[in-house]
Amino acid sequence: MYRIAWLPGDGIGREVMEAGRVVLDALKLDAEYVPADIGWEFWRQEGDALPPRTIDILKSSHCALFGAITSKPKEEAEADLAPHWRGKGLVYRSPIVRLRQMFDLGVNLRPCKAYRGNPLNYRDDIDLVVFRENTEGLYAGVELHPLPDDVRRALEAHSAPMRAFAAIASDDIALTARVITRRGAARIIRRAFEYAQKHGYPTVTLVEKPNVLRETSGLMTRVARQVALDFPHIELWERNIDAMVAELVKQPQQYGVLVTSNLFGDVISDLTAQLVGGLGFAPSGNLGDSFAVFEPTHGSAPDIAGKGVANPVGMLLAARLMLDWLGESERGTRLENALAAVIAEGRVRTRDLGGGATTLEMADAVARKL
Ligand code: NAI
Ligand code: MG
Repeated sequence: MYRIAWLPGDGIGREVMEAGRVVLDALKLDAEYVPADIGWEFWRQEGDALPPRTIDILKSSHCALFGAITSKPKEEAEADLAPHWRGKGLVYRSPIVRLRQMFDLGVNLRPCKAYRGNPLNYRDDIDLVVFRENTEGLYAGVELHPLPDDVRRALEAHSAPMRAFAAIASDDIALTARVITRRGAARIIRRAFEYAQKHGYPTVTLVEKPNVLRETSGLMTRVARQVALDFPHIELWERNIDAMVAELVKQPQQYGVLVTSNLFGDVISDLTAQLVGGLGFAPSGNLGDSFAVFEPTHGSAPDIAGKGVANPVGMLLAARLMLDWLGESERGTRLENALAAVIAEGRVRTRDLGGGATTLEMADAVARKL
């Protein structure tokens, strides 16, 4: 029996998780779903959006399914705290980022497939899978402002462009470092190739910018060429990030698995999601070596929360990724086929699809097809 940590979170996160449960129950997955607290309510009431008891549950589970959370900028977060917590120096940190770091979930998997009959498809022949590095790159958290003296001295010791920045007043310059490690690069690229092999994609496209980001994208490129040697039947394509976004609009059907660093992956995965219907259709898997967290990519959507109109497809596809990861591919395929059939028929559609069905009605329709 699987032990699955169950993290609904806030807003429509709760609603789409309910939909996910309907479908998982219909699939008769032999699992125990362990509810765990995460999100804004726990920040407000306890000063911690990811309480230690939740971390304990996660540590004793095979994986986690997660809905969505609300998060707000620094000042608003402080103002929202219950009165007795205010002014105590509590700092809000995104629980998702914390989860990724705590469990070393370096691989972010984001498939975007055009399902036949989806009126929101940009084209009907799109099948893209983005592998985004999740813990390094420009989002590694190496951010400096004002510029510390030791960093200034390090810049001064280098040649022209770096030395020029060292002359600027500390308060007038901010620095974010783009960190790529050989280990992080190899992990994400290898996972992308393994996925391409398992699912029959003929190419893996590395999306970087080595002509400008010579060292970081350069390392990604060298590692990719090395890893590619282990997969002689899969072709490695290399594209620059700027050219790639144009390509994704011009001829997305030419591409399959894409692999890239953190910021580039963040940007292109929003684009690829939009090509196949937008946030309501986009699942995501945060994968480590022995633990994983699956979620729809959307947030808590306060504008539609509580109305039961959220599209559950992203959540159901996240459950499908989870089933695959658990080795339950037969159930995963059944789930995807049922979902595809409901979309193709077009009788049960949530509001974003132009219909009037509720979140649970759509989940019920999928469950009936299983
Ligand atoms: P959002 O993803 O919650 O919503 C963006 C827009 O897409 C809204 O108009 C919403 O109604 C629509 N939308 C999202 N999911 C949908 C679905 N399943 N069906 C139909 N329509 C859907 O992003 P937003 O508005 O920028 O952020 C809202 C809150 O969520 C913020 O507090 C933000 O910090 C948080 N957030 C959390 C994420 C997570 O938990 N992984 C990811 C993104 C945002
Ligand atoms: Mg994003």
